Order: sequence, then structure tokens, then C-alpha cells
Amino acid sequence: MAGEVFPDDFVWGAATASYQIEGAVREDGRGSSIWDVFSHTPGKVANGDTGDFACDHYHRWRDDVGLMRDIALPNYRFSLSWPRILPLGTGRIEQKGLDFYDRLIEELLENGIEPWVTLHHWDLPSALYDQGGWVNRDTCAAFVEFTDIVTRRYGDRVKHWITLNEPWCSAFLGYVHGIHAPGHTNLKEGLQVMHHLLLAHGLAMPVIRANVPDADAGICLNPTTFYPYGDSQEDLDAAIREDGLRNRVWLDPLAARGYPDDMVDLFREIWPEVGPDDLEIIATPSDFIGVNFYNPTYVEAGNEPPLFSRKIDPPNLPRTDMGWIVEPSALTDLVTRIHTDYGEIWTKQYIFENGAAYDDRLVHGKVDDRQRARYIHDHLAALYKAIDDGVPVKGYFVWSLMDNFEWAEGYARRFGLIYVDYKTQQRTIKRSGRWYAEVVSGNELIAPD
Ligand code: FCB
Repeated sequence: MAGEVFPDDFVWGAATASYQIEGAVREDGRGSSIWDVFSHTPGKVANGDTGDFACDHYHRWRDDVGLMRDIALPNYRFSLSWPRILPLGTGRIEQKGLDFYDRLIEELLENGIEPWVTLHHWDLPSALYDQGGWVNRDTCAAFVEFTDIVTRRYGDRVKHWITLNEPWCSAFLGYVHGIHAPGHTNLKEGLQVMHHLLLAHGLAMPVIRANVPDADAGICLNPTTFYPYGDSQEDLDAAIREDGLRNRVWLDPLAARGYPDDMVDLFREIWPEVGPDDLEIIATPSDFIGVNFYNPTYVEAGNEPPLFSRKIDPPNLPRTDMGWIVEPSALTDLVTRIHTDYGEIWTKQYIFENGAAYDDRLVHGKVDDRQRARYIHDHLAALYKAIDDGVPVKGYFVWSLMDNFEWAEGYARRFGLIYVDYKTQQRTIKRSGRWYAEVVSGNELIAPD
């Protein structure tokens, strides 16, 4: 299908995150982050890759903004490196770190590109980790301090603020599954981290509002659609439990409904400490709900605590280079469900990330990544369907602007609209990047091939 015309005010963009692109980890007074430590720990990241150099964006930012202009990008979502600005997480401010983002923001605005800033995309200062990291409630206060500094400094020019990126990953991949920094495997800690991240978001919201009265601000989650694999009640129950921990445990308290009873019951003895005002703070109104979506999940009943579910990848579905199944209709289902269940709370949804890793090859100066263009096209078509049905999705950002450090997968997985040769740091706009530029310019979905 082609020819869908998006609403006039639809927001088109692409996204990155500081640790994934900046490099220059020891320059201009930047402090260490948990991802520096984790990536330098043998065995944690594929091929021993680290973010030390990444895309060298810290030095190449001007050219990178030029590339954004080349692909007609109207909006750019990026994150601030907390340890670049507060090397120890709180206290002493590193002016050079602040200046870096000032220059970047100026350059974006001069090129007609609207900045969308994520405050925290996982690179927690190591100094805070040394005091307990997100397990320690004091980290919430440190986050508020950081928020205050950067919203004061950039708020005259930056109007779109995203408090946290995918706190589910920080809590569960970082503290329970051990595959992201800081690599713990402790469910009780993970649940406490979950609560502190939500609290940090709620505490930061009024600070953003005070410093940027006309801000458009909220959080960005990675909810997904869970489908029971079989028809049994057991499979359905497993899907409901998965949905609880990945979706409702975040959305419900943000929507002023408190934590879902089934989750509190399930984790009873290890449920986190929740202060008397915490739920009210977490429920502080926000302007939008941010959604990152890559793939749905199929589950059947299983034996493993705590969720007693097993993930199944249906064999008939295609997969990306990450091994993630591709099923665009799940995005229609997801945004529709958020609207149905939480529509009176959030009248705006943004897709802040969507995209795919494929094994791109640079051949005679070109990258012919039709598969990625197809993936993006099909997800935009799925989104259009929901919008057409009245779901208020107001924008879409491709993950990612350029190939970058893909966390535990290192540089082996490429998600970019722009190809990066990590040896030479040469950038090449991929076929998908040129195609996306046409879609964005025309505000209309056109066939990718
Ligand atoms: C998301 C992350 C983003 C990127 C994509 C592929 O979970 O937010 O940084 O790594 O996955």
C-alpha cells in the first residue's frame, strides 16, 4: 500500500543517544559512565567493542548536522551525556560539556532542525553508581539536579524534553538479566530501580515546567504487544503477566492508577519500598507518552519464575539482524491499546524509536538497504492505519540517524539511515535514508522499491 498522506503537523525525525555516537569519552572533563565500565569489562559486549570512539560525533557534530539537512530531517532526537555535564553526577559542572550541546543545538536550529532532548539514555555517571546507582533513592535527587541545570541552560531553545529512555531496559536488562550496564542479576534490585526511575521522572517534570514554561515533556517507554502463542487459558495468563511487567507496571502509575495489583501480588516479598507521596509524584501530568517499538512478543505458559512464561518466535515471521521478528500490525495494536486504555491521560503519543538492523554492505559507495526501507514503510503504514482510526500518534522517529554502538551487540548491528565506516568515520547515506527524506518532504508514504 502507498499514498497515505500524514496529518500536516505530523512530526518526522530520527534518533540517537549520547553513548552510542559521541565517543571522546575522556575529553573535556567528561566523567565515567556505567556504560564505559561495562563495555570495558571483558565478555560483556560483542567483540569487546566499547563506546570510546563510536561515531566520533563529539568532533563531527557539524558534519552530522549537515547530513541531517541532506536527508531533509526536520526533527532530531538525541540524549545528553550526564557525566559530560556533571562528571561526578552531582555538584561540579563541566562547562565544556554544557558548551558542546550548546553548539549542537545552535547548529540544529540554524539548519531548521528541531531538537528533541532525552535527559537520560542509560549512561549513568559511575560516581552515582558507586553510591548505589538507581537502587539508591538519592539518585532521583541527582537526576533532578541534572535536569535543572540543562533545562535552565537550553530551555530557551529546546522545547521538547524526554525525561528517560526505556526505563524497563535500565531496570530489567541492567539489574535483572545482567545484559546491560551495570550487569546485575537481582530481581529485587530491578524492581527498586523501576520505582526509582519512575520517581525520578515524576520529580523532574515540574522542574522542566518551571524552567521551560512552554515545554512539551514526558517519558519514553518501550511497551510492546504480547500475544498468547496458543489458545489456552494458561498461555493467555502468561501473556497477561508479561504485559504486567513490561507495560502496565510503567503505564498504570504514570496514569495515576498506582501499581497494578497482579504485579504487586506476584512480587509481594520483594516489592520495592514506595514512599507515601511517591505515587502522586509519579503521576505528575505529562504532555505525551513516548513509545519505542521494534517487535511484538509471543508467549506461552512456562515453568520459570517469576512470570512462568516462555517466549516463542513464530517460525513464519521474518526477522531482522537482531533476530527480532517483524510484524508491523503489532504497532497498530500497541498504539491503539494505549489509546483505548490510557487515552484520557495522554492525548499525544510519539513513536520515538522504530527501525531495524540489517547486515548492510557498502558497495561502490552505496548501501542498498531495501529491507530497512521496507521495514520502516510497513511500520508507517501500520501507524497510519491507527491514526486514521483516531489514535493520536503525532510523530515518528527512526532509530537511528546513523549506525552506532548497539549496546551489548557493539558495532555488529547497524540500524542507521546513514552508514558509518568505523575505521575512516566516513558516512554514506543509505538508500533508506534517501527514501525516508522523500517521505518526510512529501509528508506521504511512498513505496520503498
Ligand atoms: C532501544 C534503545 C536504543 C537502540 C535500539 C535498537 O532499546 O533505546 O538505544 O539501541 O533499542
